[in-house]
Amino acid sequence: KQTDNQLIIDAGQKQFGATMCGSCGMLYSTDSPEDNFQHTQFHQRFLDTIKFVGWKKERVVAEFWDGKIILVLPDDPKYATKKAEDVRRIADSELGFQQITLSSPSSAKTYLFINSDRMVVGCLVAENIRQAFRVLEQQENAKDMSKEDFLEHHRAWCCSTVAEQAICGVSRIWVFSLMRRKGIATRLLDTLRTTFMYGSHLTKEEIAFSDPTPEGKLFATKYCET
Ligand code: ACO
Ligand code: ZN
Repeated sequence: KQTDNQLIIDAGQKQFGATMCGSCGMLYSTDSPEDNFQHTQFHQRFLDTIKFVGWKKERVVAEFWDGKIILVLPDDPKYATKKAEDVRRIADSELGFQQITLSSPSSAKTYLFINSDRMVVGCLVAENIRQAFRVLEQQENAKDMSKEDFLEHHRAWCCSTVAEQAICGVSRIWVFSLMRRKGIATRLLDTLRTTFMYGSHLTKEEIAFSDPTPEGKLFATKYCET
């Protein structure tokens, strides 16, 4: 079950002789001193950021055999909002977002997936919105494209121009690279739908993804149709 996206990334890896670190997931070339230096810099900082020691008060909104989801609200104690922000920064830098401001920080809800090894391996930031643009079906011929074209193409063509009603906007969704395809993003979204609005269960149509990445789009397309 391979996607075009994965094929392109695998080809890139082989070409540049890259290695993936088994604990932080960074892709780097062991031959390059610069790469090694960057990895050393990143590695510990990353693991420290996703480390979760446990809090006096945790708002646990879902529990699973392999972890739990906690919800962090803007008025929570500093230790909680700081962790949420630090993890969001990691997600942002991976997504290539430059600025780290949210459209409405005071209403942002952050869902963190904590695994059994006490690491924050998933993060979802949701905000109240009024309208959104539907993600359109994938345009094809991706196989013949370079990675840059692929990313550009998918970003450019992902949304319709017609605004539709939506209630909840997902401004970030991120899962630690080594923990993907285990249903963590799916469980974050399912939990979001049952807990975002008190006393009501949001439908998939009431959730909108803002500016999805190619991976985000593949995920969102799958999630919304199932
Ligand atoms: N390629 C193809 N299909 C995918 C992919 C992918 N890379 N990722 C998810 N899917 C589909 C699959 O059908 C999958 O089911 P399957 O594994 O049984 O085939 C289904 O979606 C459910 O996937 P999950 O396991 O729930 O998703 P995961 O926990 O791996 O997280 C995510 C997906 C969040 C997109 C992750 O890959 C990620 O963090 N990527 C980097 C950050 C990113 O791009 N985030 C989205 C940005 S858009 C936004 O934030 C609004
Ligand atoms: Zn590492």
